[in-house]
Amino acid sequence: MEQGFLKETLAQGSALADAALERLIPAATVRPTSIHQAMRHSVFAGGKRLRPILCMEAGRMVAGSLPAGIEDVGAALEMLHTYSLIHDDLPALDNDDLRRGRPTCHKAFGEATAILAGDALQTQAYEVLAGLRCPSDARVRIIAEIARGTGTVDGMIGGQVVDLEAERTRPDAETLDYIHRAKTAALITASTVSGGLYAGGNEDAIARLRTFGQGVGLAFQIVDDVLDVTQSSEQLGKTAGKDTAAEKVTYPALYGIEESLRRADVLVAQAFTALEPFKERAETLKALARYLVERKK
Ligand code: IPE
Ligand code: IPE
Ligand code: MG
Ligand code: MG
Ligand code: MG
Repeated sequence: MEQGFLKETLAQGSALADAALERLIPAATVRPTSIHQAMRHSVFAGGKRLRPILCMEAGRMVAGSLPAGIEDVGAALEMLHTYSLIHDDLPALDNDDLRRGRPTCHKAFGEATAILAGDALQTQAYEVLAGLRCPSDARVRIIAEIARGTGTVDGMIGGQVVDLEAERTRPDAETLDYIHRAKTAALITASTVSGGLYAGGNEDAIARLRTFGQGVGLAFQIVDDVLDVTQSSEQLGKTAGKDTAAEKVTYPALYGIEESLRRADVLVAQAFTALEPFKERAETLKALARYLVERKK
């Protein structure tokens, strides 16, 4: 029952996100075609679409049904996430050849086009957010929330900077948590919060979605670190064992695999308490959070 419901939520959510992305990213035939081909190469390569799905399900939980047009928020989040992956894979950052089961953007299109494709997905995301079909105060708050979550102060870019600067250093728990909260949990938090804002949630609902996003976001990156050491490249669709090779500061490096997974479980259990007032309406978000820590890719 539970598993079938989760599968259905993931399948419907990614289909909705994909349709929005298809509509919102310029066609590969639009001039200049190379950049649109590169953007589409990386976006339509089989990502799990977890940020759009978390956003949409947060909106559904708050409103009681899926708010019309919320998939555009999800599409913008996925564009920003994909931009972060394209840049993360560049030779100057993690230097990866494989992403989402395909050659990385720079391998397929060259470094210049890959850099610009990441930039282009970012600007496209904000154009989409500017046109959201929700009250303008919510729209402005969503834009600010997402900009912050991907920015330099405790956001995605800030986390990427510290992640790179911490390579080949002795891992310490405080730096590790900063990296993971900033590079990954911040955008996941922006996803749950923006879903709540789009649905017209009150301040209490938004604060609860923020706490939930922060907890599951950190758990998500812990599991990403664990999968890097436990799974094959074929299974992940990206190069396995990269973190050890690059001497990254990771959870398994500091705590070992078992303790890392235990901490991820604890974070998810704590995150659930933030959703208590939503009662049974929170079941879908909770099932998604459980899936995030149990996933195998
Ligand atoms: C990978 O994210 C990068 C991290 C922030 C850990 P995902 O595991 O969500 O990657 P896709 O979108 O499914 O490819
Ligand atoms: C990436 O972290 C986080 C981003 C902001 C892209 P990783 O470098 O661990 O992501 P993967 O493992 O390459 O997907
Ligand atoms: Mg990285
Ligand atoms: Mg990487
Ligand atoms: Mg990783």
